[in-house]
Amino acid sequence: MIYSYIYSSKSKNAFEIDDLLQLQYDAEKNNSVHNITGYLTYKNDIFIQYIEGDEDQIKQLIKNLHKDDRHQIINEFVLPNRKERLFKNWNMRYIEYNNLIEIGFHELLDAVFFTIDNRLFSNSEVSSKINRMLLKVAEYY
Ligand SMILES: Cc1cc2nc3c(=O)[nH]c(=O)nc-3n(C[C@H](O)[C@H](O)[C@H](O)COP(=O)(O)O)c2cc1C
Repeated sequence: MIYSYIYSSKSKNAFEIDDLLQLQYDAEKNNSVHNITGYLTYKNDIFIQYIEGDEDQIKQLIKNLHKDDRHQIINEFVLPNRKERLFKNWNMRYIEYNNLIEIGFHELLDAVFFTIDNRLFSNSEVSSKINRMLLKVAEYY
């Protein structure tokens, strides 16, 4: 079973493209050891990252992410377990936010994040919206 998690966070300092590529490089290296896959996007001091893998490995990374003072997690969501990975070829891919807008699905993700807390949607509605978006991103790349 694949455990998966998505969150948004606010960076403490602005990340430039070089910082993002370095972050991607470090994450890819670590994630390949722990068999974690996923993607990361960033815009206006906000990160959105999706990670998937074995439950223990993902829970450990979630702990690390919470401790990392380069950012602060704003919103997080554990998705229902899945049978297969969505991003099996990417130990961590940085996707430019503008590319996600071109696909038209990043806006949906934004909408989902803004609706998680207001109880307009149940957990299962939120996860099916997030999953639809993730599938589109995974298909496109
Ligand atoms: C936005 C963001 C995304 C990150 N993504 C990952 C990741 O996918 N994998 C990873 O190992 N570390 C990631 N990190 C770094 C972790 O927070 C943490 O520094 C790292 O897991 C510690 O690994 P180490 O104990 O091997 O140094 C990320 C950090 C930030 C700020």
